[in-house]
Amino acid sequence: LDPKDAAVVAPCRQSLPSQTQSLYSIPGPTNWPLFGSLIELLRKGGLQRQHDALIDYHKKFGKIFRMKLGSFESVHIGAPCLLETLYRKESVYPQRLEIKPWKAYRDFRDEAYGLLILEGKDWQRVRSAFQQKLMKPTEVAKLDGKINQVLADFVSRIGQVTDNGRFEDLYFELNKWSMETICLVLYDKRFGLLHDNVNEEAMAFIMSIKTMMSTFGMMMVTPVELHKKLNTKTWQAHTMAWDRIFSTAKVYIDKKIKRHTEATGPSDDFLCDIYRHSHLSKKELYAAITELQIGGVETTANSLLWAIFNLSRNPCAQGKLLQEIREVLPANQTPSSEHLQRMPYLKACLKESMRLSPSVPFTSRTLDKDTVLGDYSIPKGTVLMINSHALGANEEYFEHSSLFKPERWLRESRPINPFAHVPFGIGKRMCIGRRLAELQLQLALCWVVRDYEVVATDCEPVDAIHSGLLVPNRELPVAFIRR
Ligand code: HEM
Repeated sequence: LDPKDAAVVAPCRQSLPSQTQSLYSIPGPTNWPLFGSLIELLRKGGLQRQHDALIDYHKKFGKIFRMKLGSFESVHIGAPCLLETLYRKESVYPQRLEIKPWKAYRDFRDEAYGLLILEGKDWQRVRSAFQQKLMKPTEVAKLDGKINQVLADFVSRIGQVTDNGRFEDLYFELNKWSMETICLVLYDKRFGLLHDNVNEEAMAFIMSIKTMMSTFGMMMVTPVELHKKLNTKTWQAHTMAWDRIFSTAKVYIDKKIKRHTEATGPSDDFLCDIYRHSHLSKKELYAAITELQIGGVETTANSLLWAIFNLSRNPCAQGKLLQEIREVLPANQTPSSEHLQRMPYLKACLKESMRLSPSVPFTSRTLDKDTVLGDYSIPKGTVLMINSHALGANEEYFEHSSLFKPERWLRESRPINPFAHVPFGIGKRMCIGRRLAELQLQLALCWVVRDYEVVATDCEPVDAIHSGLLVPNRELPVAFIRR
């Protein structure tokens, strides 16, 4: 949080511990034996529409509600003041909901855990190894050259492979762009994903990540130990996918470290610097780097996808953005981190897009101590869901919340409570790739909007469906017209 934002944080009403009510007094949807609210949720459109159902529940029950799906119980919070309380009472090692299938694979193959699944002191040790390089703005700013290298290829590809300005599968193209960028940052290697003929190894890597992501959901809701014992198809596919991900990542990490060890003279390399200064073992490095990649590829691609969509539907905002880009960036010059400092409207467009169409609609915390939140005393072990999608859609915090209005983020507008906009989570466990993602997305918008007009090819609604991230329910109706 920026200290200047503290002034706009609304004071949070907190009951004294003696006046609080229990977990069981928190309102929520009907809790049927065995199923909890699962049937109601299915009637509201199923798990794919759960983000909309959760907004409805927040409207009905208020800032906080309790819900059970089968045997899984969680408390949903969708108010800045409750988030602020949680943030202020955060423990030393905050925890998210366990991703058991990932842990099961690592234990099975004797691999380490990365930041997405680590807990306690080990999480903190690995987090601090990466914190400086990834969260310090001046460090991340140095990555603009690599990011631009990939963007130059991406924008020229728009001209080459689109049909009347339209990609056959824009999301896949953006995933390749984002993967190519992360690989260049992490391994200092170009995979050639933006070429027409993507090499087999790179394609297999992408497909393995896809398979791994599509097979773990099932093992989150059914016991992973059973899948492992019965050697189910899901477990086999999941394991094979991780095997491929790890073996590919290890090859490139090893190559990188070898090249670096043999080189003479000073260097400023992301991965080697971390390896040299952090005392992480090779095994820990493999797991941490692999998870950075898993955490960073689709999220960034997805955010750019929605930003492109929102700009296509809001030509006035796109016009203002183009004007700002032209004013700050001399013609034919490559945008840099430095240029971005003078582009408030660009940053506002991105924030607004992430508010209206967040990639990750919610994150979680598992309380490791009894905690008073508002009027309730919530026991240790409770899973809290932090719903950034519901916050962004709430009229109380964002007037005309369904409209794309980048102006609301500009300095001269009414201040926005920072706890009302948390697309990267909050506190010590906030997304570690946030600054890298923001730099990638801001530079991408600069390149794309400067060279192309992004137009809507129809005005029919595009809905978001939940499949881990919020994805559009159809191919986006957008075309890129060369300026
Ligand atoms: C965690 C969102 C890009 C790596 C998270 C969390 C969210 C998130 C919501 C959970 C935070 C919490 O629980 O408080 C996003 C979005 C991105 C993005 C929306 C793009 C727009 C990236 C990138 C990387 C990355 C580029 C890697 C370079 C991670 C990791 C964690 C994480 C490793 C776990 C951090 C920890 O637990 O210490 N991200 N992320 N993310 N993200 Fe991202």
